[in-house]
Amino acid sequence: TAPHCDALVFFGATGDLAYKQVFPALQAMIKHGHFDLPIIGVARSGWNLDQFRDRARDSLQKHGGLDADAFAKLSARLQYVSGDYQDDATYEQLRRALGSAARPLHYLAIPPGMFESVIHGLAKSGCVRDARVVVEKPFGRDLASAQLLNRTLHKSFAEDAIFRIDHYLGKEAVENLLYFRFANTILEPVWCRDHVASVQITMAEQMGVQGRGAFYEEVGAIRDVVQNHMLQVLALLAMEPPTDGGPDAIRDEKLRVLSAMRPLAPTEVVRGQFRGYLGEDGVSPSSQVETFAALRLYIDNARWEGVPFYIRAGKQLPVTCTEVMVELKPPSRAIFDADDSGRANYFRFRLSPDVLISIGARTKVPGESMVGSATELIAHHSPGDEMTPYERLLGDALRGDAALFTRGDTVEAAWRVVDPVLGNAVPVTSYEPDTWGPAAAELLMADGDQWHNPALKVASP
Ligand code: BG6
Repeated sequence: TAPHCDALVFFGATGDLAYKQVFPALQAMIKHGHFDLPIIGVARSGWNLDQFRDRARDSLQKHGGLDADAFAKLSARLQYVSGDYQDDATYEQLRRALGSAARPLHYLAIPPGMFESVIHGLAKSGCVRDARVVVEKPFGRDLASAQLLNRTLHKSFAEDAIFRIDHYLGKEAVENLLYFRFANTILEPVWCRDHVASVQITMAEQMGVQGRGAFYEEVGAIRDVVQNHMLQVLALLAMEPPTDGGPDAIRDEKLRVLSAMRPLAPTEVVRGQFRGYLGEDGVSPSSQVETFAALRLYIDNARWEGVPFYIRAGKQLPVTCTEVMVELKPPSRAIFDADDSGRANYFRFRLSPDVLISIGARTKVPGESMVGSATELIAHHSPGDEMTPYERLLGDALRGDAALFTRGDTVEAAWRVVDPVLGNAVPVTSYEPDTWGPAAAELLMADGDQWHNPALKVASP
């Protein structure tokens, strides 16, 4: 097994990601007895260590539920290096702060435009040998920039020392998708074009852009969540069984299925923007950035030939919920009443906010005639005290377990799918907040398919 890291360095330590995710994850790891390393925050803010500790406390009060014991331990491990990312002196200071630590994990919670100078600075000061690096999305803004980013990282780090975070992969329900598919025998016989009519994934969010207008202007829904979270989920649903449960076997299969996805054509995509977006702080009054995207894509391999895969993601929709529906074809002859409410048989996987797996079926209504109704057999799990994605992923990276991280080739394969429809290749249309996006999304549906809008109610078992 890979050696454990012996220090955590995080760049962008006074930023948003550190505030919302990294401090809470560190406190949780300390509380669970999983973390006992020096933590060195690096940032350009010109603060001192006390200010940095106050920031950590503040973050935990807001996002992690401050735990006095764990915070005291966290606080005692903190160090702070202040400096410009282009300045050699910053990295010399870091080298000193690392002391005898020889296998640091460098977490780059900074915009990708700064990767090059940080990696150069780390390399020059002797901080990359035996080190790992964690990078955050956005990983590039199209195929070409992602390739460039990969080249930059590969100048100083081997692929197995690079951990690209997609926090969706750290979610319990997403891991369960992989587990449920391959730990059971009931799915595999029907999991193909002979039985599956279509697959759809909806990632609906009630919130808007929440003050992140300037960030959102640079991305839009396709770059923000489709290229990464949605295509990763799709890959887990559609990939071939890996030969074992190890990181490489799983990631090899993901790469294969992503490579078999047909790059999107503009006619397969609908882009929407919620009314009101143009008035958000940091948003251009003539912005054409999408806050909603719906698309239909195909996987050109033997298993999935001709089966439509639909993805829909958007802000200001009626609920916050991510759900997958795998719908099966109807019986070849309908000898009883036909189902008029959609397809009788399906698998539903709710990935958030709670975890639900269900099987849709028809059962007979008691009485004289052979008339039935739709029922759903449900396994449901309310979120409890599980690890958050960041706690899980940070722990995995420190241990060197890459299974839940996106490999460089896989990221590029996912960009290849969305590359033709980035920017304004498809015109954007507006939609009212609290609706399911532009009506044009319906037009993507092949015969017999319809969008299923997640409703948050869970039928009692
Ligand atoms: C992030 C996106 O990656 O995922 C956000 O940048 C989105 O726009 C978020 O809101 C959703 O994640 P979660 O874990 O809340 O479903």
